[in-house]
Amino acid sequence: MSKKLLSALFAAGFAVMMSSASFAADETLAEFHVEMGGCESCHANEEPSADGAYEFEQCQSCHGSLAEMDDTHKAHDGALMCADCHAPHEAKVGVKPTCDTCHDDGRTAK
Ligand code: HEC
Ligand code: HEC
Ligand code: HEC
Ligand code: HEC
Repeated sequence: MSKKLLSALFAAGFAVMMSSASFAADETLAEFHVEMGGCESCHANEEPSADGAYEFEQCQSCHGSLAEMDDTHKAHDGALMCADCHAPHEAKVGVKPTCDTCHDDGRTAK
């Protein structure tokens, strides 16, 4: 786990580590991250970048790159950015992204 992720976890309090039950109901990913570090956890000067590259860098600085994650994530290394599946202002905390929005061939990462 990166230093940045550890310090974000510290700022968020240990409740986050202990249980997803501590997430507020219906909270978006963005709202959840804002509680830890504000808009600037992901955006420069609260302004979204045009191409999403800056935000993608921020995700990776805390969570690691796609290549460093599990098989589902590895399968998309070089093809997608985090927000393609985890749209921060739309996706709710605790809700896993689905595959069939992009693949209709029933593939898995195994
Ligand atoms: C977890 C990272 C994250 C946080 C925190 C975050 N954003 Fe975003 N935001 C994104 C990403 C990534 C996009 C690109 C669009 C998308 O995929 O949802 C985006 C898009 C936007 C957009 C473009 C319109 C839209 O909804 O797509 C605005 C405006 C915006 N963010 C403002 C903010 C503000 C203001 C805050 C703080 C209250 C904030 N964001 C917090 C990641 C984040
Ligand atoms: C192809 C779509 C896809 C992309 C791209 C993607 N994810 Fe995921 N992510 C998923 C799915 C599906 C899950 C739930 C199943 C799993 O854990 O593999 C998940 C789970 C997670 C979790 C754990 C959440 C939980 O349920 O405990 C984190 C954290 C995460 N992703 C972060 C990221 C980050 C950071 C990136 C970019 C570096 C990223 N993801 C890119 C699909 C994606
Ligand atoms: C400042 C560090 C930081 C940044 C930047 C950051 N995250 Fe996180 N994120 C965390 C922490 C801490 C957690 C809570 C512990 C965990 O689930 O790993 C978390 C949780 C998550 C989860 C799991 C939420 C759930 O449903 O359980 C996802 C998905 C996620 N982040 C995606 C992203 C994406 C996508 C970006 C970039 C747009 C991003 N994060 C940027 C620190 C960060
Ligand atoms: C946002 C769109 C999107 C989502 C959602 C998505 N994928 Fe993908 N996936 C892609 C793209 C783009 C590629 C690269 C081109 C291709 O192989 O079709 C890819 C490639 C793959 C590959 C092949 C990787 C390789 O080595 O060739 C696998 C396996 C895969 N996805 C599984 C999944 C699974 C499992 C899920 C659900 C957890 C999922 N995808 C969700 C867009 C997506």
